Amino acid sequence: MSRDPLEIVEAGFSEFGNHRESIMQILTLVNDELSFVPAEAIEAIAEGMKISSAEVYSVVSFYSFFSSRPRGRNIVRLCSTISCAMAGQGEILGALTEEFGIGPFETTQDHRITIETTPCIGLCDQAPAMLVNGEPCTQLTPEKACEIVRNLN
Ligand code: FES
Repeated sequence: MSRDPLEIVEAGFSEFGNHRESIMQILTLVNDELSFVPAEAIEAIAEGMKISSAEVYSVVSFYSFFSSRPRGRNIVRLCSTISCAMAGQGEILGALTEEFGIGPFETTQDHRITIETTPCIGLCDQAPAMLVNGEPCTQLTPEKACEIVRNLN
């Protein structure tokens, strides 16, 4: 059971302080626990740091690891940069879309899976690659990628 967003923000302030320099740590806490950063957390961080909520939101929207939209329990992040694109990323995305019925940045109705595309994740020599809940999966084929995602809880 996840904590309330405001409780997570307060815990972040206690651990890292409520100054602007701790914004990444606090956003990471919220994003890791809830799979996204809800508006009420953005407001609470802004209020606690005495900065505008637009400034907090700009950080959330700049870093692709953060999301301001609810996501599923499992986050699948498929690299779409050149090495992976040339190694078949498009076919993998097509297979995932077909099997799970969602496109990039969408979540299955049972909240089990969110598929995202992402810039290079530093695994170009093992392309095509994706991160599943932060864990690298490499040298993918459409079949291998679908099997990995199929086996997620
Ligand atoms: S281009 Fe995909 S991991 Fe670098």
